[in-house]
Amino acid sequence: MKGIKRVITLKVNGDVHEVETYPNRTLLEVLREELSLTGTKEGCGEGACGSCTVLLDGNPVRSCLLLAIDAQDREVTTIEGLADGSRLDPLQDAFVEHHAIQCGFCTSGMILTARGLLNRHPHPTEDQIKLALSGNACRCTGYTKIIEAVKSVTEGRG
Ligand code: FES
Ligand code: FES
Repeated sequence: MKGIKRVITLKVNGDVHEVETYPNRTLLEVLREELSLTGTKEGCGEGACGSCTVLLDGNPVRSCLLLAIDAQDREVTTIEGLADGSRLDPLQDAFVEHHAIQCGFCTSGMILTARGLLNRHPHPTEDQIKLALSGNACRCTGYTKIIEAVKSVTEGRG
């Protein structure tokens, strides 16, 4: 039993969307299935892997754990909205430059988690970077290159 559909208003990457959906749909489901923003990935679906991370008012949240209805009146940023026009976020450039991407499944969540950290602390220590990313799983790169990529941005070498 999903209940009765209702129209919710979401602001995503600066655009306002009216979406007719069930009240028990997660933000992850609505982003991917209703708004076709498939850069946000579903890994575990239960808050453990971080691959579904998006920014909510600039702070990282797990979109698989948040009801879309609860994201109303907030600013949602997905990986599709991180670039400024054709100019990538420095973290996106750094991940490419430092070979911090292999299959790319974890990358959106990693970058948005790191962006959330840098929004709060522009010059974090390596330990703060590791702590911030500790809830994001990557099955490919082994983390060293990911941490190097984030560090390069914090040190102005992005
Ligand atoms: S899919 Fe949300 S934390 Fe894994
Ligand atoms: S690059 Fe493949 S899971 Fe991280």
